[in-house]
Amino acid sequence: MTQKIQQHPKLTDLEARAELQSLADEITRHDVAYYQKDAPMISDAEYDDLRDRYRKLLAEFPHLRPLNDPESRVGVEPAASFTKVRHAIPMLSLSNAFTDEDAHDFVERIRRFLRLSEDTSLEFMAEPKIDGLSCSLRYEGGELTVGATRGDGTTGENITANVRTIQDVPKRLKPPFPSMIEVRGEIYMNREDFFALNARRESEGEAVFANPRNAAAGSVRQLDPRVSAARPLRFFAYALGESEKGDACSFETQAGLRGALERWGFMLNEPSRLCRGVDELLAYYHHIESERFKLPFDIDGVVYKLNHCDLQDRLGFISRSPRWAIAHKFAAEQAETKLLDIVVQVGRTGALTPVAILEPVTVGGVVVKHATLHNEDEIARKDVRIGDVVRIQRAGDVIPQVLGVDLDQRPPNITPFVFPDHCPVCGSLAVREDGMAVRRCTGGLICPAQAVERLRHFTSRLAFNIEGLGDERVRELWDDKLIRSPADIFRLKKHRAELIIRKGWGEKSADKLLDAIDARTTISLDRFIYALGIRQVGEATAKALAEHYETFDNFYNEMRLVRSNSSEWNGLTSIEGIGELVAQDIADFFEEPHNREVVDDLLNLLTIQPYQRRIDRQGEAILAGKRIVFTGTLSTMSREEAKAKAESMGAKVSDSVSSKTDFVVVGEDAGSKADKARALGIRILNEAEWNGL
Ligand code: IVH
Repeated sequence: MTQKIQQHPKLTDLEARAELQSLADEITRHDVAYYQKDAPMISDAEYDDLRDRYRKLLAEFPHLRPLNDPESRVGVEPAASFTKVRHAIPMLSLSNAFTDEDAHDFVERIRRFLRLSEDTSLEFMAEPKIDGLSCSLRYEGGELTVGATRGDGTTGENITANVRTIQDVPKRLKPPFPSMIEVRGEIYMNREDFFALNARRESEGEAVFANPRNAAAGSVRQLDPRVSAARPLRFFAYALGESEKGDACSFETQAGLRGALERWGFMLNEPSRLCRGVDELLAYYHHIESERFKLPFDIDGVVYKLNHCDLQDRLGFISRSPRWAIAHKFAAEQAETKLLDIVVQVGRTGALTPVAILEPVTVGGVVVKHATLHNEDEIARKDVRIGDVVRIQRAGDVIPQVLGVDLDQRPPNITPFVFPDHCPVCGSLAVREDGMAVRRCTGGLICPAQAVERLRHFTSRLAFNIEGLGDERVRELWDDKLIRSPADIFRLKKHRAELIIRKGWGEKSADKLLDAIDARTTISLDRFIYALGIRQVGEATAKALAEHYETFDNFYNEMRLVRSNSSEWNGLTSIEGIGELVAQDIADFFEEPHNREVVDDLLNLLTIQPYQRRIDRQGEAILAGKRIVFTGTLSTMSREEAKAKAESMGAKVSDSVSSKTDFVVVGEDAGSKADKARALGIRILNEAEWNGL
């Protein structure tokens, strides 16, 4: 059961005003974190408690309603980056029921409002409540024209391009359909898709999402629709907004509306059930509560909706929610147990994550032995100590978390937990970036927890591009201790005899790999820097560094001295695209002695070429101020494009060949101009040579 904050019995007006204001401010802060940043700071239950406390206090002191009253708005104002969409009919929220008694009260309130007797039976549609983000889809002439988020309920964000990428969203309705209709529903992510997305992000060194709702919200609110398209988003429809009333769009019941939504081509949130009276609603609730883990998506409750539309109309709305519907939430499953140990794990990106090792306890039918403690600040904030009795919760059915400590049961003499400042796996320094909660191991190249991933990066296409050293082989050679650091790759030839007798290898494939490795002992500076796998140094940053420092010696000498505000630091941060945070990651990398050992080892085995200006820069040097003539048909670009390209590189393009012409580019079926150029001894370029420039 959700713990409710106890209300103070007698408050003066002054005290109540102060408390209402502080609650309103706090709720607003959490609304911004949740709706705009997709990064809630507290659990849903804690949020609901705040709201509950606020509502009760406001009921007692209605004359003290703060100006930023959270009850009179839904969510928060939309973020500035998307264009805005005004909802002709506001997109509202649902009020919550937490107990069976709350559900009884809901039905009773409806009866009272409609002046119905005790024995009049009422029908309700009951549906699962997925915790995603609500979305409105506008169809004109059956075509999807606008997709919008809820925003503050009145104005949302235009996310049309993004919703078009969601498979479940029909781009065209199946007939018959009304001339204009706004369908509302929920964008969400399935549990499995969510886990896979997080695993991918983790392996790419990106922050993982806390739960499927945040993942869905974060994916939809991407300014680049290609990012949304790559995310496994889904949609189900549950309501209508504005509509052109007509035959295709008049419903007597919620069940009838669901039928129409399905016929138009939408997915519905199932399993739903038509229930007569509160007992059937509660039977549905308890059934879904026990079966919820079998659903492919996480749900946080069920929604009851009065089935008859005419009664819905009569009931109307109260502040931000309809009187005819309610969300009956599931209680978060909680339990208390002893914290046996705190183990700090190192992820593939080097992030240090504290994990609580618990005396096994059953929470909602599942035995829990581990729970997350999030990060070092959370441990300090909750003052969690080994030996404490802790309260744990299975939040959103994802990873159990430690909520807090039962101080009454704290044994004497247990000491605060000291978070390690060195990696527990490899011993390298572990650092925190400014403003970040995560501490990371800096021993990227040698840390076993990260090594295989790092080695894969080292051999990947944009780095050393060693064919034949993919995931499986790197892991295999790592496990057998043949490759433990990047330099070992270049010493592999010493182990040829061992390689050729390996299962699935043979002489041919071993030699092919050794040749591929041999071919890479000379490497360009930008590739080499990229291959080191320094945090935040991707292909473009590696190029920028290579261009700036030109040789590895220059780069390395400066990076060994780089400290904030040194001249080396100033040089590094003067490079376009390298801000303080990236510079700090580079500095941390070279500050770690293990990383320098790996680099030194590699330097003994490899030749790193100085940075070569990009080829069009060479072309620029060659073409600047020169006269050029194109003749014949080019197969890879139009004459206009070739001309524009030549001009952008500083050349002057003319139509006729003369003694002043410097180059003639000859395509297919070139005629007299090519002959004339030959006669005048002018340099002739074929199409491939031109493209090379
Ligand atoms: S009906 C007028 N049905 O829950 C109210 N909402 O906490 C229309 N939600 O804002 C909402 N599942 O984003 C409805 N089956 C369902 C739902 C559902 C999830 C969301 C929706 C709503 C929020 C309220």
